[in-house]
Amino acid sequence: MSDRRSLPSDPSSAPGWVRHEGLRRWVSEIARLVKPEHIVWCDGSGQEYDGLCADLVRAGTFVKLSDKLRPNSYLARSHPTDVARMEDRTFICSARKEDAGPTNNWVDPAEMRGTLRRLFEGCMRGRTMYVMPFSMGPIGSHIAQIGVQISDSAYVAVNMRLMTRMGRAVADWLGEDGDFVPCVHSVGAPLADGERDVAWPCNEKEKWIVHFPEAREIWSYGSGYGGNALLGKKCLALRIASVMARDEGWLAEHMLILGVESPDRQKSYITAAFPSACGKTNLAMLIPPPAFKGWKVTTIGEDIAWIKPGQDGRFYAINPEAGFFGVAPGTSEATNPNAMKMLRENVIFTNVALTPEGDVWWEGMTEQPPARLIDWQGKEWKPGSGHPAAHPNARFTVAAAQCPSMDPRWEDTGGVPISAFIFGGRRSTTVPLVVEAPTWEDGVYMGATLGSETTAAITGKVGVVRRDPMAMLAFCGYNMGDYFAHWLRMGKAVHHPPKIFRVNWFRRDAGGKFIWPGFSENMRVLSWIVERCHGHAQGSATPLGIAPRYEDLNWAGLEKFTRERYRELAQVDGASWKAELASHDELLGKLGAHLPGELERRRTALHESLAA
Ligand code: OXD
Ligand code: MN
Repeated sequence: MSDRRSLPSDPSSAPGWVRHEGLRRWVSEIARLVKPEHIVWCDGSGQEYDGLCADLVRAGTFVKLSDKLRPNSYLARSHPTDVARMEDRTFICSARKEDAGPTNNWVDPAEMRGTLRRLFEGCMRGRTMYVMPFSMGPIGSHIAQIGVQISDSAYVAVNMRLMTRMGRAVADWLGEDGDFVPCVHSVGAPLADGERDVAWPCNEKEKWIVHFPEAREIWSYGSGYGGNALLGKKCLALRIASVMARDEGWLAEHMLILGVESPDRQKSYITAAFPSACGKTNLAMLIPPPAFKGWKVTTIGEDIAWIKPGQDGRFYAINPEAGFFGVAPGTSEATNPNAMKMLRENVIFTNVALTPEGDVWWEGMTEQPPARLIDWQGKEWKPGSGHPAAHPNARFTVAAAQCPSMDPRWEDTGGVPISAFIFGGRRSTTVPLVVEAPTWEDGVYMGATLGSETTAAITGKVGVVRRDPMAMLAFCGYNMGDYFAHWLRMGKAVHHPPKIFRVNWFRRDAGGKFIWPGFSENMRVLSWIVERCHGHAQGSATPLGIAPRYEDLNWAGLEKFTRERYRELAQVDGASWKAELASHDELLGKLGAHLPGELERRRTALHESLAA
C-alpha cells in the first residue's frame, strides 16, 4: 500500500524501502518548492492502482466502464484544451543554443530555471504529490534507465503504472546510490483552501515541457495529457535518452520493434520508425494474411526502441516501455485484431465515446456507429452530429503483457538482435512502396529526409507534408545535424549493421484512392525485407535504391493486385522527385555547418541518379 505522509520537509518522510539518500533529499526539496498537501510514494502494487482508480472515480476524472463489457476499465475525459502533445511548448534547454539546433525550441537554462521556479512555487497546494520510481526497460537490463517522476496527478500515477515498471521494485534496483533521471510534473492548478477540484485539472494559460539535456532533468507544467505528462515516454525515453545515446554510443529511437518468423522457423527482428499516427501499433501487431502459411509476426514494442551494439557485432534492441498509449480511432477487428483483444479489460481510455451500456466506442471501431453515445466531451451524440464522437487523438493505456502477439523475448534484458531498420511516412504521392538503401549512408539519408503528412497526434494543420527526420523531429534532444552524424558513426559501431529500408503504405491513385491495401497485407513487404536480409529475395536497382519488381513479391491470396496497379505504387517520377529533393534541401539547409558532408554527397548522388 502507498504511504501517505502528511508533510514534506523531513527527508525521513520516505518509506523504509527507499534507501537512496539523494532521492529522499531531492523529493524533500521539490516538496518544499511545490507545497503539496500530502506525499504518496507509489509502490506500484495492484492494490495501490485499484485505490487510485477508485479515487479518480470519486473525483469525477474516471467513469468506471461496465464490468461485464469492459472489466476493470475506465474512461477519462480531458479538458478540451489538453488533448495532445504540444510541440510549440516543448523546450530543449541545453547550455548552448547551437546544441539544441534549429529544429528545437531553446531557452537559456538559467532563464528557464527562473521561469520554472515561478511556475512550480506552491503549484501543488491542496493536492497530493505522488512519487514514482520507474524503469524504462526491463529491471536489471544494462540497456534500461531509471527515472523518478513526481506528479500531482493520480491519472498520471495510474498511467505510469501501466506504461513503465513502476514502484518499489525499481527503488530496490536503484539501491543507495544508483543514477536516476529526475522528472517533475504538475498540472499547474493549485487548490485554494476549500476549493473543489475539477475532473481534469490543467493550466489553460500556460504549458511547459522542459528538458535540461546536460543535467538530464525534465520539468513539465500545465498539461495532464499523454506525452506531456507521462514523462518516461517522449521526454525521458526519447529526448533525454537521445542525448545519453549520443554521448555513450547507442541509439534511442522513435521505432517499433517486431519479430518476423518465416515458415522455416527463422526469427528476424526489425525496428521501424514512423511519425506519430502512421499505424505503428497496427504494424507491430500485424497478423499475416491467410495465404502466408507459417509466417508469424510478434511484438516487442510499438513506439520506442533503445538499441545498443552487442558483443557479436550486431545491434540489440529493447522496448523501454511496459505498456501502450495508443491512438484509439481507427483501431478495429479489421485493422488490428490483436489490439482489440488486448483492450478487452484492464484499460484506461481517454477521450473516447461512451455507449449507453457503459462500453467505449470510437470512429472506425465498427462500420456503423451506435445510435446514441456520450461524446468525448460528455455530451449527447448521435450519428450525423457533425463532429467525431471520440477525439481524433483519443487514446488507450494498457499493459503490453495483455497483447496476444507479444514476443516471448519482449522482456529479455539483453534485447533482441536487429536485422533491418525501416523508415516510413504517410505520403499520398512520390514515395514508392518499398526501397532498400544500397549502403548504410544511403539509409541514413533516407531516414534523415523522411517526410510525412501531418495527423491529429500533432497539434496544427492536418495533411501537409512535414519533414520528420527519422520520425524524431519532435523527439531529438539535441542538434539534428549532430544526430545525423551520430547515425553515420553508428553504422561503424557494429560489424553487421542492419539493412535500411524506406516504405510508404499511403500512396494514392489519380482518383485519390489508396493504392496499397495496407494493414495485414504489409506482410508482403515485411517478408521481402526479411528475405533480403538473409540474401534470399531479388530486387532491382532504381534511382532511389533496390526495389522489388512485381515478381519479387509474394502475391499469394492477393492475385487481384495487378502488375499495372503495382507499377503505380512503385513508380519513381522524375518531376515529383525533383520537387521532393528541393524540399529535402529546405530541412538540410537549416542545419548549416552541422549537416554532415556525407549527407550532402548522398543528395548530390541522388540528383545525379534521378537525372540519369
Ligand atoms: C505517440 C506520438 O503518442 O508519437 O506515440 O505522438
Ligand atoms: Mn510515438
